[in-house]
Amino acid sequence: QASNEAQSRGWHLYLVGGGVRDLLLTEANQPLLLQDIDLVVDGFHRATDDGAGLELASKIQQMYPQARLSVHGEFQTAALLWHKDPTLGNLWIDIATARTEFYPYPAANPEVEASSIRQDLYRRDFTINALAVRLTSPKKGEFSRKGDLLDFFGGLLDLRSRQIRVLHPNSFIEDPTRIYRAVRFAVRLGFTIESQTEEYIRYAIASGVYERLRLENQQAPALTTRLRTELKYILQAEYWKPALQLLADLEALRCLHQDLILTNQLWWQIRCVSRWLKIIDPENNFDHWLIRLEVLIAHLNPSERIKVATNLQLPKDSLQRLKKLEQIETEVIEKLPHYQRKSEIYLLLRQYKYVSLILLSVRTSKSIRRTIWQYLTRLAKVEPLLNGNDLKNLGYQPGPIYKQILDNLLIATLDGKIHSYTEAEAFIQ
Ligand code: CTP
Repeated sequence: QASNEAQSRGWHLYLVGGGVRDLLLTEANQPLLLQDIDLVVDGFHRATDDGAGLELASKIQQMYPQARLSVHGEFQTAALLWHKDPTLGNLWIDIATARTEFYPYPAANPEVEASSIRQDLYRRDFTINALAVRLTSPKKGEFSRKGDLLDFFGGLLDLRSRQIRVLHPNSFIEDPTRIYRAVRFAVRLGFTIESQTEEYIRYAIASGVYERLRLENQQAPALTTRLRTELKYILQAEYWKPALQLLADLEALRCLHQDLILTNQLWWQIRCVSRWLKIIDPENNFDHWLIRLEVLIAHLNPSERIKVATNLQLPKDSLQRLKKLEQIETEVIEKLPHYQRKSEIYLLLRQYKYVSLILLSVRTSKSIRRTIWQYLTRLAKVEPLLNGNDLKNLGYQPGPIYKQILDNLLIATLDGKIHSYTEAEAFIQ
Protein backbone atom coordinates (compact mmCIF):
# COMPACT_ATOMS: atom_id res chain seq x y z
CA GLN A 1 0.00 0.00 0.00
CA ALA A 2 2.85 2.36 0.81
CA SER A 3 4.29 1.75 -2.63
CA ASN A 4 0.90 2.37 -4.30
CA GLU A 5 0.58 5.63 -2.40
CA ALA A 6 4.09 6.67 -3.37
CA GLN A 7 3.52 5.64 -6.98
CA SER A 8 0.31 7.65 -7.22
CA ARG A 9 2.21 10.76 -6.15
CA GLY A 10 4.98 10.11 -8.65
CA TRP A 11 7.51 9.24 -5.95
CA HIS A 12 9.85 6.29 -5.65
CA LEU A 13 9.78 4.05 -2.61
CA TYR A 14 12.64 1.79 -1.55
CA LEU A 15 13.25 -0.87 1.06
CA VAL A 16 16.67 -0.04 2.53
CA GLY A 17 19.14 -0.95 5.26
CA GLY A 18 19.07 -4.06 7.44
CA GLY A 19 15.92 -5.45 5.82
CA VAL A 20 17.59 -5.77 2.41
CA ARG A 21 20.74 -7.19 3.97
CA ASP A 22 18.79 -9.81 5.91
CA LEU A 23 16.64 -10.67 2.88
CA LEU A 24 19.74 -11.32 0.81
CA LEU A 25 21.35 -13.36 3.57
CA THR A 26 18.32 -15.60 3.99
CA GLU A 27 18.26 -18.83 2.03
CA ALA A 28 15.37 -19.07 -0.41
CA ASN A 29 13.61 -21.81 1.57
CA GLN A 30 14.08 -20.20 4.99
CA PRO A 31 11.43 -18.03 6.61
CA LEU A 32 12.34 -14.39 7.33
CA LEU A 33 10.38 -12.22 9.71
CA LEU A 34 11.25 -8.55 9.30
CA GLN A 35 10.21 -6.63 12.41
CA ASP A 36 12.04 -3.44 11.65
CA ILE A 37 11.41 -2.20 8.13
CA ASP A 38 13.15 0.90 6.78
CA LEU A 39 11.62 2.60 3.74
CA VAL A 40 12.90 5.65 1.90
CA VAL A 41 10.99 7.90 -0.52
CA ASP A 42 12.57 10.03 -3.24
CA GLY A 43 11.86 11.42 -6.70
CA PHE A 44 10.15 14.69 -5.79
CA HIS A 45 9.04 17.50 -8.04
CA ARG A 46 8.25 20.09 -5.44
CA ALA A 47 10.38 21.46 -2.64
CA THR A 48 7.49 20.79 -0.23
CA ASP A 49 7.78 17.06 -0.95
CA ASP A 50 10.65 16.85 1.51
CA GLY A 51 7.97 15.80 4.02
CA ALA A 52 7.13 12.86 1.74
CA GLY A 53 8.00 10.20 4.33
CA LEU A 54 5.66 11.76 6.82
CA GLU A 55 2.88 12.14 4.25
CA LEU A 56 3.08 8.45 3.33
CA ALA A 57 3.22 7.31 6.94
CA SER A 58 0.16 9.42 7.82
CA LYS A 59 -1.74 7.93 4.88
CA ILE A 60 -0.87 4.37 6.00
CA GLN A 61 -1.84 5.22 9.55
CA GLN A 62 -5.30 6.32 8.33
CA MET A 63 -5.67 2.91 6.71
CA TYR A 64 -4.43 1.07 9.82
CA PRO A 65 -5.61 3.13 12.81
CA GLN A 66 -4.21 0.53 15.22
CA ALA A 67 -0.70 1.58 14.18
CA ARG A 68 0.91 4.36 16.23
CA LEU A 69 2.53 7.17 14.31
CA SER A 70 5.52 9.08 15.61
CA VAL A 71 7.48 11.75 13.83
CA HIS A 72 11.10 12.81 14.04
CA GLY A 73 10.73 16.13 12.27
CA GLU A 74 14.31 17.15 12.33
CA PHE A 75 15.32 13.96 10.51
CA GLN A 76 12.29 13.93 8.25
CA THR A 77 11.33 10.44 9.29
CA ALA A 78 8.06 9.02 10.46
CA ALA A 79 7.66 5.71 12.24
CA LEU A 80 4.68 3.42 12.44
CA LEU A 81 4.46 0.91 15.24
CA TRP A 82 2.07 -2.00 15.33
CA HIS A 83 1.89 -3.23 18.86
CA LYS A 84 2.68 -6.69 20.01
CA ASP A 85 1.06 -9.42 18.06
CA PRO A 86 1.38 -12.49 20.34
CA THR A 87 3.03 -14.57 17.63
CA LEU A 88 4.79 -11.98 15.48
CA GLY A 89 5.85 -9.38 18.09
CA ASN A 90 6.07 -5.66 17.34
CA LEU A 91 6.38 -4.32 13.83
CA TRP A 92 8.19 -1.05 13.14
CA ILE A 93 8.09 0.68 9.82
CA ASP A 94 10.25 3.75 9.39
CA ILE A 95 9.44 5.88 6.36
CA ALA A 96 12.12 8.47 5.67
CA THR A 97 12.49 11.09 3.04
CA ALA A 98 15.73 10.48 1.14
CA ARG A 99 18.26 12.67 2.84
CA THR A 100 21.81 13.80 3.01
CA GLU A 101 23.38 14.32 6.38
CA PHE A 102 25.98 16.88 7.29
CA TYR A 103 27.99 16.44 10.43
CA PRO A 104 28.70 20.00 11.59
CA TYR A 105 31.59 18.69 13.69
CA PRO A 106 32.93 15.20 14.58
CA ALA A 107 30.52 12.93 16.43
CA ALA A 108 27.74 15.52 16.27
CA ASN A 109 24.11 14.83 15.51
CA PRO A 110 23.71 15.06 11.76
CA GLU A 111 21.92 17.94 10.09
CA VAL A 112 19.65 16.83 7.30
CA GLU A 113 18.35 17.87 3.91
CA ALA A 114 16.27 16.11 1.26
CA SER A 115 18.18 14.40 -1.55
CA SER A 116 18.21 11.39 -3.85
CA ILE A 117 18.30 7.70 -2.91
CA ARG A 118 21.94 7.41 -3.96
CA GLN A 119 23.01 10.15 -1.58
CA ASP A 120 20.78 8.71 1.11
CA LEU A 121 22.52 5.34 0.81
CA TYR A 122 25.95 6.95 0.74
CA ARG A 123 25.46 8.51 4.18
CA ARG A 124 25.02 5.04 5.73
CA ASP A 125 27.47 3.02 7.76
CA PHE A 126 28.49 -0.10 5.81
CA THR A 127 28.19 -1.30 2.24
CA ILE A 128 26.02 -4.22 3.35
CA ASN A 129 23.59 -1.72 4.90
CA ALA A 130 23.60 0.58 1.87
CA LEU A 131 21.58 -1.64 -0.46
CA ALA A 132 18.05 -0.82 -1.57
CA VAL A 133 15.19 -2.59 -3.31
CA ARG A 134 12.89 -0.48 -5.47
CA LEU A 135 9.26 -1.00 -4.48
CA THR A 136 7.61 1.27 -7.07
CA SER A 137 7.30 0.88 -10.82
CA PRO A 138 9.48 3.18 -12.90
CA LYS A 139 8.17 6.37 -14.41
CA LYS A 140 8.02 6.82 -18.17
CA GLY A 141 11.49 6.91 -19.70
CA GLU A 142 13.20 5.20 -16.75
CA PHE A 143 14.96 1.89 -17.27
CA SER A 144 14.86 0.36 -13.83
CA ARG A 145 12.17 -2.06 -12.71
CA LYS A 146 10.12 -2.65 -9.58
CA GLY A 147 12.07 -5.17 -7.47
CA ASP A 148 15.48 -3.97 -8.71
CA LEU A 149 18.36 -4.11 -6.29
CA LEU A 150 20.27 -0.83 -6.05
CA ASP A 151 23.87 -1.54 -5.15
CA PHE A 152 26.01 1.56 -5.69
CA PHE A 153 28.84 0.66 -3.32
CA GLY A 154 29.56 -3.06 -3.75
CA GLY A 155 27.35 -4.24 -0.88
CA LEU A 156 26.37 -7.46 -2.62
CA LEU A 157 29.99 -8.44 -3.14
CA ASP A 158 30.72 -7.74 0.51
CA LEU A 159 27.74 -9.82 1.58
CA ARG A 160 29.10 -12.68 -0.52
CA SER A 161 32.64 -12.32 0.81
CA ARG A 162 31.25 -11.75 4.32
CA GLN A 163 32.92 -8.44 5.01
CA ILE A 164 32.02 -5.33 6.95
CA ARG A 165 33.27 -2.42 4.86
CA VAL A 166 32.70 1.20 5.68
CA LEU A 167 31.55 3.62 2.99
CA HIS A 168 33.88 6.50 3.71
CA PRO A 169 37.03 7.08 5.76
CA ASN A 170 35.49 9.63 8.12
CA SER A 171 32.56 7.44 9.06
CA PHE A 172 33.83 6.45 12.52
CA ILE A 173 35.01 9.95 13.32
CA GLU A 174 31.58 11.34 12.46
CA ASP A 175 29.79 8.64 14.40
CA PRO A 176 31.90 6.55 16.82
CA THR A 177 28.90 4.32 17.64
CA ARG A 178 29.52 2.79 14.23
CA ILE A 179 32.60 1.12 15.73
CA TYR A 180 30.25 -0.82 17.99
CA ARG A 181 27.94 -1.50 15.09
CA ALA A 182 30.81 -2.89 13.01
CA VAL A 183 31.63 -5.29 15.83
CA ARG A 184 27.99 -6.23 16.36
CA PHE A 185 27.41 -7.06 12.69
CA ALA A 186 30.75 -8.84 12.34
CA VAL A 187 30.08 -11.16 15.27
CA ARG A 188 26.36 -11.59 14.69
CA LEU A 189 26.70 -12.42 11.01
CA GLY A 190 30.03 -14.24 11.29
CA PHE A 191 31.69 -11.63 9.00
CA THR A 192 35.13 -10.08 9.24
CA ILE A 193 35.86 -6.39 9.43
CA GLU A 194 37.64 -5.52 6.20
CA SER A 195 41.25 -4.46 6.85
CA GLN A 196 41.00 -0.84 5.65
CA THR A 197 37.84 -0.43 7.71
CA GLU A 198 39.67 -1.81 10.74
CA GLU A 199 42.36 0.79 10.19
CA TYR A 200 39.77 3.57 10.12
CA ILE A 201 38.38 2.25 13.39
CA ARG A 202 41.80 2.19 15.02
CA TYR A 203 42.54 5.66 13.69
CA ALA A 204 39.25 7.07 15.08
CA ILE A 205 39.93 5.57 18.49
CA ALA A 206 43.56 6.72 18.55
CA SER A 207 42.41 10.22 17.66
CA GLY A 208 40.29 10.17 20.84
CA VAL A 209 37.16 11.23 19.03
CA TYR A 210 34.77 10.19 21.74
CA GLU A 211 36.77 11.52 24.66
CA ARG A 212 37.42 14.83 22.93
CA LEU A 213 33.78 15.25 22.16
CA ARG A 214 32.73 14.51 25.73
CA LEU A 215 35.03 17.18 27.03
CA GLU A 216 34.38 19.79 24.41
CA ASN A 217 30.81 19.47 23.41
CA GLN A 218 27.43 19.60 25.02
CA GLN A 219 25.86 17.69 22.09
CA ALA A 220 27.31 14.51 23.58
CA PRO A 221 24.14 13.17 25.27
CA ALA A 222 22.59 12.17 21.93
CA LEU A 223 25.77 10.34 21.03
CA THR A 224 26.00 8.58 24.36
CA THR A 225 22.37 7.49 24.08
CA ARG A 226 23.27 5.86 20.78
CA LEU A 227 26.39 4.37 22.32
CA ARG A 228 24.40 2.96 25.24
CA THR A 229 21.90 1.44 22.80
CA GLU A 230 24.70 -0.28 20.90
CA LEU A 231 26.29 -1.48 24.16
CA LYS A 232 22.94 -2.90 25.19
CA TYR A 233 22.53 -4.77 21.90
CA ILE A 234 25.99 -6.25 22.28
CA LEU A 235 25.96 -7.07 25.98
CA GLN A 236 22.52 -8.68 25.91
CA ALA A 237 23.16 -10.76 22.80
CA GLU A 238 24.04 -14.44 22.98
CA TYR A 239 27.30 -13.55 21.26
CA TRP A 240 28.36 -10.96 23.86
CA LYS A 241 31.61 -12.75 24.69
CA PRO A 242 33.24 -12.73 21.23
CA ALA A 243 31.82 -9.24 20.62
CA LEU A 244 33.36 -7.89 23.80
CA GLN A 245 36.65 -9.51 22.93
CA LEU A 246 36.59 -7.95 19.49
CA LEU A 247 35.78 -4.53 20.98
CA ALA A 248 38.71 -4.99 23.32
CA ASP A 249 41.04 -6.07 20.48
CA LEU A 250 40.11 -2.88 18.66
CA GLU A 251 40.63 -0.92 21.90
CA ALA A 252 37.09 0.32 21.44
CA LEU A 253 36.29 0.11 25.14
CA ARG A 254 38.27 3.31 25.31
CA CYS A 255 35.17 4.98 23.86
CA LEU A 256 33.68 4.47 27.32
CA HIS A 257 36.76 5.62 29.17
CA GLN A 258 40.29 6.28 28.05
CA ASP A 259 41.68 3.79 30.62
CA LEU A 260 39.28 0.94 29.99
CA ILE A 261 40.97 -2.17 28.67
CA LEU A 262 39.89 -5.76 29.01
CA THR A 263 42.56 -7.16 31.32
CA ASN A 264 42.57 -10.90 32.09
CA GLN A 265 41.20 -10.06 35.51
CA LEU A 266 38.33 -8.00 34.11
CA TRP A 267 37.55 -10.67 31.53
CA TRP A 268 37.38 -13.27 34.29
CA GLN A 269 35.20 -10.98 36.45
CA ILE A 270 32.65 -10.37 33.77
CA ARG A 271 32.33 -14.05 32.88
CA CYS A 272 32.09 -14.99 36.54
CA VAL A 273 29.32 -12.45 37.18
CA SER A 274 27.46 -13.73 34.13
CA ARG A 275 27.67 -17.33 35.38
CA TRP A 276 26.37 -16.26 38.78
CA LEU A 277 23.52 -14.32 37.24
CA LYS A 278 22.50 -17.30 35.16
CA ILE A 279 22.18 -19.42 38.29
CA ILE A 280 20.73 -16.83 40.65
CA ASP A 281 18.43 -15.16 38.15
CA PRO A 282 17.48 -17.72 35.49
CA GLU A 283 14.34 -15.76 34.65
CA ASN A 284 16.24 -12.58 33.84
CA ASN A 285 14.54 -10.39 36.42
CA PHE A 286 17.69 -8.29 36.49
CA ASP A 287 19.09 -6.62 33.40
CA HIS A 288 22.09 -8.88 32.84
CA TRP A 289 23.52 -6.68 30.11
CA LEU A 290 23.50 -3.68 32.44
CA ILE A 291 25.23 -5.60 35.20
CA ARG A 292 27.93 -6.68 32.74
CA LEU A 293 28.37 -3.04 31.85
CA GLU A 294 28.60 -2.17 35.54
CA VAL A 295 31.38 -4.74 35.97
CA LEU A 296 33.31 -2.98 33.21
CA ILE A 297 32.72 0.43 34.78
CA ALA A 298 33.53 -0.83 38.28
CA HIS A 299 36.99 -1.68 36.96
CA LEU A 300 37.75 2.05 36.79
CA ASN A 301 38.80 4.27 39.68
CA PRO A 302 35.85 5.02 41.98
CA SER A 303 35.96 8.71 41.04
CA GLU A 304 35.70 7.87 37.32
CA ARG A 305 32.91 5.30 37.64
CA ILE A 306 30.15 7.81 38.26
CA LYS A 307 31.33 10.10 35.50
CA VAL A 308 31.15 7.27 32.96
CA ALA A 309 27.84 5.92 34.23
CA THR A 310 26.29 9.39 34.26
CA ASN A 311 27.59 10.14 30.82
CA LEU A 312 26.03 6.92 29.53
CA GLN A 313 22.79 7.94 31.24
CA LEU A 314 22.54 4.63 33.09
CA PRO A 315 19.41 4.15 35.22
CA LYS A 316 19.29 5.41 38.81
CA ASP A 317 19.70 1.90 40.27
CA SER A 318 22.93 1.39 38.37
CA LEU A 319 24.30 4.76 39.44
CA GLN A 320 23.45 3.97 43.07
CA ARG A 321 25.15 0.59 42.92
CA LEU A 322 28.29 2.02 41.39
CA LYS A 323 28.30 4.91 43.84
CA LYS A 324 27.99 2.62 46.87
CA LEU A 325 30.29 -0.11 45.67
CA GLU A 326 33.43 1.29 47.28
CA GLN A 327 31.75 1.72 50.65
CA ILE A 328 30.23 -1.79 50.59
CA GLU A 329 33.57 -3.21 49.55
CA THR A 330 35.31 -1.61 52.54
CA GLU A 331 32.64 -2.72 55.01
CA VAL A 332 32.40 -6.29 53.80
CA ILE A 333 36.15 -6.84 53.43
CA GLU A 334 36.71 -5.46 56.91
CA LYS A 335 33.92 -7.32 58.74
CA LEU A 336 33.14 -10.55 56.92
CA PRO A 337 36.42 -12.41 57.65
CA HIS A 338 35.72 -12.06 61.39
CA TYR A 339 32.27 -13.59 61.23
CA GLN A 340 31.91 -17.31 61.88
CA ARG A 341 28.23 -17.77 62.60
CA LYS A 342 25.81 -17.99 59.69
CA SER A 343 23.50 -15.50 61.36
CA GLU A 344 26.33 -12.94 61.56
CA ILE A 345 27.03 -13.36 57.87
CA TYR A 346 23.35 -13.11 57.09
CA LEU A 347 22.78 -9.96 59.13
CA LEU A 348 25.75 -8.22 57.52
CA LEU A 349 24.95 -9.14 53.93
CA ARG A 350 21.23 -8.67 54.04
CA GLN A 351 21.79 -4.92 54.19
CA TYR A 352 22.91 -4.98 50.57
CA LYS A 353 21.09 -5.65 47.33
CA TYR A 354 21.74 -8.93 45.49
CA VAL A 355 23.25 -7.22 42.47
CA SER A 356 25.61 -5.14 44.62
CA LEU A 357 26.85 -8.33 46.23
CA ILE A 358 27.34 -9.97 42.86
CA LEU A 359 29.34 -6.96 41.66
CA LEU A 360 31.34 -6.98 44.84
CA SER A 361 32.02 -10.72 44.90
CA VAL A 362 34.38 -10.66 41.92
CA ARG A 363 36.42 -7.89 43.51
CA THR A 364 37.20 -9.79 46.73
CA SER A 365 39.31 -12.76 47.87
CA LYS A 366 38.22 -16.30 47.12
CA SER A 367 37.06 -16.97 50.68
CA ILE A 368 34.88 -13.84 50.82
CA ARG A 369 33.50 -14.72 47.40
CA ARG A 370 32.53 -18.18 48.67
CA THR A 371 30.77 -16.71 51.66
CA ILE A 372 28.82 -14.26 49.48
CA TRP A 373 27.84 -17.15 47.23
CA GLN A 374 26.70 -19.16 50.26
CA TYR A 375 24.61 -16.18 51.33
CA LEU A 376 23.04 -15.61 47.91
CA THR A 377 22.22 -19.22 47.20
CA ARG A 378 21.33 -20.53 50.66
CA LEU A 379 21.29 -18.18 53.65
CA ALA A 380 19.20 -15.46 52.00
CA LYS A 381 16.51 -18.06 51.29
CA VAL A 382 16.18 -19.36 54.85
CA GLU A 383 12.82 -18.52 56.44
CA PRO A 384 11.80 -18.62 60.11
CA LEU A 385 9.99 -21.88 60.88
CA LEU A 386 6.90 -20.02 62.09
CA ASN A 387 4.95 -17.18 60.55
CA GLY A 388 2.65 -14.44 61.82
CA ASN A 389 -0.39 -16.72 61.74
CA ASP A 390 1.38 -19.33 63.85
CA LEU A 391 2.24 -16.65 66.41
CA LYS A 392 -1.40 -15.56 66.52
CA ASN A 393 -2.51 -19.17 67.04
CA LEU A 394 0.01 -19.43 69.85
CA GLY A 395 -1.75 -16.49 71.54
CA TYR A 396 0.62 -13.60 70.76
CA GLN A 397 -1.01 -10.21 70.27
CA PRO A 398 -0.05 -8.78 66.83
CA GLY A 399 2.44 -5.90 67.06
CA PRO A 400 6.13 -5.00 66.69
CA ILE A 401 7.01 -7.96 68.87
CA TYR A 402 6.24 -10.26 65.90
CA LYS A 403 9.20 -8.96 63.94
CA GLN A 404 11.49 -9.42 66.90
CA ILE A 405 10.32 -12.98 67.54
CA LEU A 406 10.55 -13.95 63.87
CA ASP A 407 14.02 -12.43 63.59
CA ASN A 408 15.20 -14.35 66.64
CA LEU A 409 13.72 -17.50 65.20
CA LEU A 410 15.48 -16.89 61.90
CA ILE A 411 18.83 -16.38 63.62
CA ALA A 412 18.40 -19.57 65.63
CA THR A 413 17.42 -21.47 62.47
CA LEU A 414 20.43 -20.14 60.55
CA ASP A 415 22.74 -21.18 63.38
CA GLY A 416 21.28 -24.69 63.41
CA LYS A 417 19.69 -24.38 66.87
CA ILE A 418 16.20 -25.29 65.72
CA HIS A 419 15.11 -27.63 62.97
CA SER A 420 11.38 -28.19 63.38
CA TYR A 421 8.09 -26.51 64.16
CA THR A 422 8.01 -28.08 67.64
CA GLU A 423 11.53 -26.87 68.37
CA ALA A 424 10.53 -23.43 67.10
CA GLU A 425 7.49 -23.38 69.40
CA ALA A 426 9.60 -24.43 72.34
CA PHE A 427 12.21 -21.78 71.40
CA ILE A 428 9.80 -18.87 71.64
CA GLN A 429 8.04 -20.00 74.85
N1 CTP B 1 22.67 3.52 10.19
C1 CTP B 1 23.87 4.17 9.98
N2 CTP B 1 24.63 4.58 11.04
C2 CTP B 1 24.21 4.37 12.31
C3 CTP B 1 22.97 3.72 12.54
C4 CTP B 1 22.23 3.29 11.45
O1 CTP B 1 24.26 4.36 8.84
N3 CTP B 1 24.95 4.79 13.34
C5 CTP B 1 21.86 3.11 9.01
C6 CTP B 1 22.26 1.77 8.42
O2 CTP B 1 22.13 1.85 7.04
C7 CTP B 1 21.23 0.81 8.97
C8 CTP B 1 19.98 1.70 9.06
O3 CTP B 1 20.50 3.00 9.37
O4 CTP B 1 21.01 -0.28 8.10
C9 CTP B 1 19.00 1.28 10.11
O5 CTP B 1 19.61 1.24 11.39
P1 CTP B 1 19.28 0.10 12.44
O6 CTP B 1 17.84 -0.21 12.44
O7 CTP B 1 19.93 0.49 13.72
O8 CTP B 1 20.15 -1.11 11.88
P2 CTP B 1 19.83 -2.35 10.98
O9 CTP B 1 20.83 -2.35 9.88
O10 CTP B 1 18.40 -2.41 10.59
O11 CTP B 1 20.25 -3.51 11.94
P3 CTP B 1 19.43 -4.47 12.90
O12 CTP B 1 19.16 -5.66 12.08
O13 CTP B 1 20.37 -4.74 14.02
O14 CTP B 1 18.21 -3.70 13.34
